[in-house]
Amino acid sequence: MEAREAKARACRIPWAGQDSAGSPVPAAAWDFETFAQHVYAKSGIDLRAYKRQQMQRRINSLMQSLGIEDYRIYFELLDKDRGRYEEFLRRLTINVTEFFRNPERYDDLREKILPELARNAARRGEPLKIWSAGCADGAEPYSVAMILAEMGLLRQARILATDVDVQVLERARAGVFVEFEMKNISSQRMQRFFVSGGQGRFQVVEDLRRAVEFRRHDLLQDPYESGFDLILCRNVVIYFTEDAKHSLYRRLVGALAEQGILFVGGTEPILRYREYGLDLVGQGFYRRASRVPSDAQGRRHWV
Ligand SMILES: C[S@@+](CC[C@H](N)C(=O)[O-])C[C@H]1O[C@@H](n2cnc3c(N)ncnc32)[C@H](O)[C@@H]1O
Repeated sequence: MEAREAKARACRIPWAGQDSAGSPVPAAAWDFETFAQHVYAKSGIDLRAYKRQQMQRRINSLMQSLGIEDYRIYFELLDKDRGRYEEFLRRLTINVTEFFRNPERYDDLREKILPELARNAARRGEPLKIWSAGCADGAEPYSVAMILAEMGLLRQARILATDVDVQVLERARAGVFVEFEMKNISSQRMQRFFVSGGQGRFQVVEDLRRAVEFRRHDLLQDPYESGFDLILCRNVVIYFTEDAKHSLYRRLVGALAEQGILFVGGTEPILRYREYGLDLVGQGFYRRASRVPSDAQGRRHWV
């Protein structure tokens, strides 16, 4: 649909009914709360769990770009126009990501975290269970898959990658990236893990794509699987309210296997980690605390 046409349709005033003289009465404008309730009913996404000001600012700027001032009119547009609805979801969730985001943390993951987690899983006789929660276009789980392949652990691992945004998950499954997205990928990794599709596009090799299961999951609504050795939940909670963060951390810890590791983003340290039953084991890495003999405590920490 042409932008002008969408704008014209969107600006049509909804009529609630007629007054006693039979004249049409415009429907009352919605406040943000009412809009949030309707979005929840439509999408299952609870805007109230996100930081109000940021969320409202983002939505208002989208509305302004369409010349819409009333949340009711905007919701009617979202309900009718799939393209606008997807644009709304994209703005809402902000899927900015990159391969090996904070590369030094991925070095820690490879050298200090994964070897131990792999040993734990082997002792249990189970696959290494990994969850990238809020995985965006897949750069994060594919980064982990590359490291596992280099360590010879990919076939023993199960990588689940989830996001609330179905569109970004479609891109993740296709595994196609463009040149500027490859900045943290070494030439060895380029050669081993990507095939060139021409015109500056690169696709993740099939082995890696098959190793990652992408699935839609809302961290604020849906049930969690459990028994994960490693959960990456990075740069997702920055938009969540304190309450939403609190319940998220509790649930993530519940989803970790004993001795499992939670890997968070560089700007979101968990200050009250002990309250959640976590130990800090390195910048960005928290281990699910468990009854470990006191003589083992020293070895469990490497910071
Ligand atoms: C900024 S990206 C971070 C991607 C990746 N984890 C990283 O650090 O590069 C945040 C992702 O969280 C997802 N997200 C936001 N709210 C979510 C929710 N309630 N449940 C699951 N994913 C969510 C967004 O769709 C987006 O793809």
